[in-house]
Amino acid sequence: MKAFVFETNGEPSQVLGLRDLPDPAPGPGEVAVRILLAPVHPSDLHIIRGRYGRQPPLPASPGIEAVGVVEELGSGVTTPAPGTRVVLLNVIGTWRQRVVCPAGQLVVVPHGVSDDDAAQAIINPVAAWMLTVGEHRLAHGELLTQTAAGSTVGRLVLQLARSEGFRTVNLVRRHAQIEELAALGADITLCTTDPDWAGQLIEATHGGPRKAIDCVAGQVGATLAETLAPGGRLLVFGALSSHRQTDRSAFEMPVFAPKMIYRGTRVEGWFLFHWLETTPLAESVNVVSTVLDRLNSGALRLPPAVRYKPSDIATAVADADGGSSTANKPVLDIGGNF
Ligand SMILES: NC(=O)c1ccc[n+]([C@@H]2O[C@H](COP(=O)([O-])OP(=O)(O)OC[C@H]3O[C@@H](n4cnc5c(N)ncnc54)[C@H](OP(=O)(O)O)[C@@H]3O)[C@@H](O)[C@H]2O)c1
Repeated sequence: MKAFVFETNGEPSQVLGLRDLPDPAPGPGEVAVRILLAPVHPSDLHIIRGRYGRQPPLPASPGIEAVGVVEELGSGVTTPAPGTRVVLLNVIGTWRQRVVCPAGQLVVVPHGVSDDDAAQAIINPVAAWMLTVGEHRLAHGELLTQTAAGSTVGRLVLQLARSEGFRTVNLVRRHAQIEELAALGADITLCTTDPDWAGQLIEATHGGPRKAIDCVAGQVGATLAETLAPGGRLLVFGALSSHRQTDRSAFEMPVFAPKMIYRGTRVEGWFLFHWLETTPLAESVNVVSTVLDRLNSGALRLPPAVRYKPSDIATAVADADGGSSTANKPVLDIGGNF
């Protein structure tokens, strides 16, 4: 089989290569999956560069999710049957033609979900679901504050707000996005380039956010933490303000301690792979199935995929590295011609 492999961490253009490897055989309880499509997430580039929260032992293949077709069952496995379309849960190394993993980590894809959507059905949609419905347990009419509301995760959160009935206060860094997000159902949108955005946020949330999520970190995340209402909880799940930067200080998020102490507020990290490792498999499979059902019904919609041939890997990487990738999602056509 063909596989993208890196033997050392570094710039993708320097360390990522295409290799011919023997087809892996499924052991007892395992399944071999023929990969069709695998997205190129900024997180994949973090893994290649050696800066992600979960680093595979080297040599390794990148790829933190994919859609594929069951090809061969190991002993003791009866389902999913060969030919079934599946996504792979908690498997790192999907940028290869054939992947072997435990049968329990496969989730069957409903017929109505396209390959393009299935390939990107886990990382962002499951994060959006878990942060809002799973962790914050947002009730009907309750208010969630989110940063980088125009991001893929931010737009998924807006769709969930509509289907689950919670309301949103959204923070963006460009005024031009305010109207766009309003059309997507955003209740309130504020711009962090306004000098008094923190005051506007406290007013809009009647005393500060009680439930918030942040994927910007840095000064925006720190200011959001300082505005939290008494007992408020902020889940930090990304650090867009530090992307591509290697300087440690770019990752710092200075929190004003007295506000936390006197108000009993909480600032916590949230990471999908940590959640997967600490959650019973049946529970995480259930969440993925729920998300796939929402994609099937149209309640959740993902950015259009732009398919790249494996030979166009450099362009796919440049696309994922581009910063504002909300218009499309680069996806490697692993099932096509190499
Ligand atoms: N913890 C987890 O398990 C987990 C899971 C999924 C995603 N994430 C993280 O969530 C974040 C969002 O992912 P995504 O795929 O949704 O991203 P994305 O679609 O690529 O996000 C692009 C958006 O982010 C905005 N943005 C970029 N840098 C910014 C900054 N410094 N300040 C404010 N806004 C900024 C852009 O605004 P403009 O339009 O103005 O450029 C654009 O709207 C990433 O950090 C990702 O790593 C974490």
